[in-house]
Amino acid sequence: MTRAFFTVAIVFMFFLSFHSFAVAGPTKPAASKQQTCASCHSEFSSLLSAKHPRVTGKDIKACAPCHAPDPRNTAKPKAYSAKLHLGHMQAGNELDCLVCHTWQPGKAFGVKGAKKPIGVLTKENMDQTKKVFASWASSKYLDAHHGKKNVTCAGCHEKLPESGDSVENDRCLTCHGDMEQLARKTEPKDFPDRNPHKSHLGTINCTVCHKAHAASKTYCLECHKNFNMKIPFGEDQAGTGATPNKKAQ
Ligand code: HEC
Ligand code: HEC
Ligand code: HEC
Ligand code: HEC
Ligand code: HEC
Ligand code: HEC
Ligand code: HEC
Repeated sequence: MTRAFFTVAIVFMFFLSFHSFAVAGPTKPAASKQQTCASCHSEFSSLLSAKHPRVTGKDIKACAPCHAPDPRNTAKPKAYSAKLHLGHMQAGNELDCLVCHTWQPGKAFGVKGAKKPIGVLTKENMDQTKKVFASWASSKYLDAHHGKKNVTCAGCHEKLPESGDSVENDRCLTCHGDMEQLARKTEPKDFPDRNPHKSHLGTINCTVCHKAHAASKTYCLECHKNFNMKIPFGEDQAGTGATPNKKAQ
């Protein structure tokens, strides 16, 4: 009787723990390329917004038919890509890139289940891409601010980024409005001509001041040490996202 009770209890507890594992969702990841989504997620609907179509399947190929990589790399936020990366990149939740990606070094880099590769990544560029990805996921710089707003690498870079790449002003302005609009937003009330976006320097690269993967810096201050011009995600206030100039007005 007692033994039977214990057997039943143990079997019951086993199912209970299995059940709570399935309901409580992801377990601690162990980095392995063999994993499928089902290793950690028993179903997808609880991870997606309520209005998302129902998805069946157990790996990234289940998503590919509706979420094909965008070959034109349009400048717009992409929630699908951003959430998949951010969800599996926070400390403790790291997932091997090759759970979702196909990669032949120097030849092709793509997403499992997608018809065409996204581009080419050499071994060196893959190492750098991984480092920059970690920055994009959690740094105190402009890259992570964009990550939180679902802007992925291609949103700025237009293609798979490589060592030495930068971003043209036009690409930034596709999302941030034209130069005049931007200059109107940042015209100081007290000294209107101390405008970072409209000055005697004329048109210069955004990246002279706005660094994506490092602290930003107001170039004007190299010569005008007495100007009070704070830049978002600068050395003094990285991560706050604050634009104190505006608040001081
Ligand atoms: C090793 C475990 C593990 C594997 C394998 C795994 N995930 Fe996740 N996933 C997680 C964890 C942990 C989270 C974060 C959960 C949270 O934030 O509550 C997560 C979050 C998510 C999210 C929600 C992201 C968000 O912020 O909205 C989606 C969607 C998702 N995973 C899809 C997938 C897909 C698709 C696969 C297979 C290609 C997969 N996961 C494989 C552990 C895993
Ligand atoms: C039947 C088509 C379909 C399939 C299959 C599908 N999606 Fe989606 N998904 C959509 C549509 C439509 C949207 C909304 C438009 C958009 O943002 O692209 C969307 C948006 C999203 C978003 C952003 C909005 C949200 O709900 O958080 C995420 C994340 C996402 N899908 C993840 C996935 C994952 C992960 C898979 C595979 C496990 C998947 N989707 C499979 C159609 C699909
Ligand atoms: C859970 C699945 C998943 C994991 C894990 C994952 N990726 Fe991705 N990744 C995708 C999908 C899906 C796309 C295509 C998104 C699109 O184009 O809409 C993508 C796109 C990319 C792109 C194209 C550029 C861009 O901004 O869209 C790069 C680069 C990339 N991934 C690198 C990585 C690296 C490096 C890792 C590992 C640190 C990684 N990915 C881990 C699913 C994943
Ligand atoms: C907000 C726009 C933006 C986003 C998003 C972004 N980058 Fe960049 N990236 C830049 C700019 C601008 C530069 C030029 C260097 C600088 O000013 O920081 C750059 C430079 C690079 C370089 C060359 C660095 C060097 O020293 O040679 C690589 C590689 C790179 N980015 C990879 C990535 C990857 C991978 C992602 C996605 C995880 C990404 N970037 C997301 C804007 C962006
Ligand atoms: C795909 C669209 C997109 C591209 C391309 C893009 N951004 Fe952004 N950026 C955003 C979004 C969305 C936000 C968050 C909302 C906001 O603050 O306007 C943002 C925020 C910012 C902020 C912070 C604004 C604040 O109020 O603190 C700066 C600075 C910025 N971007 C500069 C750049 C620069 C420089 C580039 C080019 C290297 C660039 N962005 C490219 C979409 C984009
Ligand atoms: C000379 C340095 C400098 C250059 C070049 C520069 N910026 Fe800025 N940017 C700043 C500073 C400083 C601020 C903060 C201004 C403020 O808060 O009033 C700023 C603020 C911004 C903001 C936030 C505006 C807001 O709504 O508060 C955006 C977006 C932005 N810059 C985008 C760009 C883009 C895109 C370019 C290139 C076309 C560019 N910047 C070129 C210094 C610069
Ligand atoms: C390479 C050095 C240098 C840089 C960088 C620079 N300036 Fe100047 N600026 C000067 C010089 C030289 C003068 C003329 C002498 C003077 O009056 O100080 C001047 C004059 C000015 C004046 C009129 C005089 C004053 O002090 O009010 C303003 C306003 C000004 N600059 C704004 C800016 C802004 C805004 C930036 C950044 C977008 C900038 N400058 C970047 C060198 C520079």
